[in-house]
Amino acid sequence: MSEFSPVFLQLKEQAVVASAHSYAPYSHFPVGASVIGQDGKIYSGCNVENASFGLTQCAERSALTAAICDGARPGTLQTLVIYTPGDRAHSPCGACRQVMHELMAEDSWVISCCDSNDRLQWTPAQYLPDPFVPDALLK
Ligand code: THU
Repeated sequence: MSEFSPVFLQLKEQAVVASAHSYAPYSHFPVGASVIGQDGKIYSGCNVENASFGLTQCAERSALTAAICDGARPGTLQTLVIYTPGDRAHSPCGACRQVMHELMAEDSWVISCCDSNDRLQWTPAQYLPDPFVPDALLK
């Protein structure tokens, strides 16, 4: 997806707004994410930290949880954009990659962006080769 695509620009705008809502008093690393469903509806999330550090919720999983809570079907989410302030685009953590892989469409994209033109993007096969999949439990 091009950096000029209207869908990417809309998702980035929403991810920027979400990052401003981030609660990151410990890491000072605000992250925003937004994901678009099949019907064009956009869901956002930010990281929410806790004094008990292990309870921290990442922005990507916040956005995906919002989508599922609203009724978006697992496996149908199309594009997820991650935004972090600064000049460098960052990679999503391993836990988020696992959750993205299960909830996003097979032909989906995850794109990471920032305040410069630096951008990273991945297909599911690129961000999580040899995934642990629901099939493993259903057989
Ligand atoms: N964080 C995210 O929100 N997404 C990621 O993929 C990596 C890390 C957050 C968690 C924590 O609040 C802060 O960034 C530093 O790890």
